[in-house]
Amino acid sequence: MEPATESRSYSPGLEGVLAGETAIALVDGKNGRLTYRGYPIGELVRHGSYADVAELLWTGEWGPGARLACASLSPPVLAALRNLPDGANAMDALRSAVSAWGAAERPGWPPSAEQARALTAMTPTALAGYARLQQGLEPIEPDPDLPLAAGFLYQLTGELPDEADARALDAYLIVAAEHSFNASTFAARVITSTKSDLASAVCGAIGALKGPLHGGAPTEVASQLLQIGSPERAEAWMRGALDRGERLMGFGHRVYRAYDPRAAALREVAEGMANAADWLKLAVAVEDVALRLLAERHPDRGLKTNVEYYTAAVLQGVGLPPAIFPATFAMARHAGWTAHCIEQASANRLIRPDVRYVGPAERSLPGVGATA
Ligand code: COA
Repeated sequence: MEPATESRSYSPGLEGVLAGETAIALVDGKNGRLTYRGYPIGELVRHGSYADVAELLWTGEWGPGARLACASLSPPVLAALRNLPDGANAMDALRSAVSAWGAAERPGWPPSAEQARALTAMTPTALAGYARLQQGLEPIEPDPDLPLAAGFLYQLTGELPDEADARALDAYLIVAAEHSFNASTFAARVITSTKSDLASAVCGAIGALKGPLHGGAPTEVASQLLQIGSPERAEAWMRGALDRGERLMGFGHRVYRAYDPRAAALREVAEGMANAADWLKLAVAVEDVALRLLAERHPDRGLKTNVEYYTAAVLQGVGLPPAIFPATFAMARHAGWTAHCIEQASANRLIRPDVRYVGPAERSLPGVGATA
């Protein structure tokens, strides 16, 4: 094919391209709305648990009172965590744990809600186990009576968590559970479309989420707040950052041009957290200044607070170390990824787009063509 004759339009990053159909979540960036199976995110946070929401994503049915506790690790998964080399991070650990789980469990195709439940219940145990091994401590067996968020906190510290902390983390898991066709979800769907198994799809998704353009922001928000230190320093610090051409972490979003509804739901939860009080006061004060400065500099962009901003406040407030923020996001997103794998398989077509060729026209190897 002659490269010059290719006339179809191409959108870098697939921006604006419809690449599939989904009934799982609707992200309405213009109006700042997010729904899971039609239900607004704020209502789900106020009236449901992560287990309820995960079941909703997997099955399409709303049935409050669902149960999902952390699951024990099988020996291959535990061995994978113990054998990680120095320098591996929490995302590497999670991806390795899911890979070992897949090799041991061999989930068949098509992916099912049952497989999704088992995998989603395993990951908090793996992440908490990794975090403890990093500190030279032994992993803790899950308590089957604790819901997932409380069970995760218990397995990190060995102590029963404060109820408000468990509730706040549960709210975070709900808002982070699903967000339509983002890069990691699309990666999971591409892998599922080849009829590969659920664990392989989720490993690919974790790999995509590991990139700083997708999953790294809460850690950077936490570090930004730490550097600012007090509300009085916010304006000078942020003006300096903007003058140097830096971005304010936790603001702006490719899709939302209004206040991110997940940030609003989390702010509501964070305001009820005693432990987060100082941290939250700083976050609120810094947010006000940031919104004012961003509106001054980019009046037409609609740069507002994104979910990562209050994620940092909640995760820091419940005592999670910033090094595991991205992996905690990945843990929450298991519900959404696996729901998309199930949906992809239910009407499967191999995802194989075209590409525009921009290399040299056909030619012969040097010294071969002309005389051959
Ligand atoms: N702070 C300062 N300026 C920002 C900004 C931020 N957080 N986000 C966007 N801008 C500015 C850009 O510098 C750019 O200015 P210019 O036109 O003068 O060059 C303009 O707004 C548009 O930037 P662009 O990258 O095209 O916007 P986008 O909507 O595609 O970007 C993000 C979305 C998320 C990549 C971007 O807002 C960002 O980098 N935010 C900070 C990181 C973050 O919080 N990430 C988590 C996202 S959930």
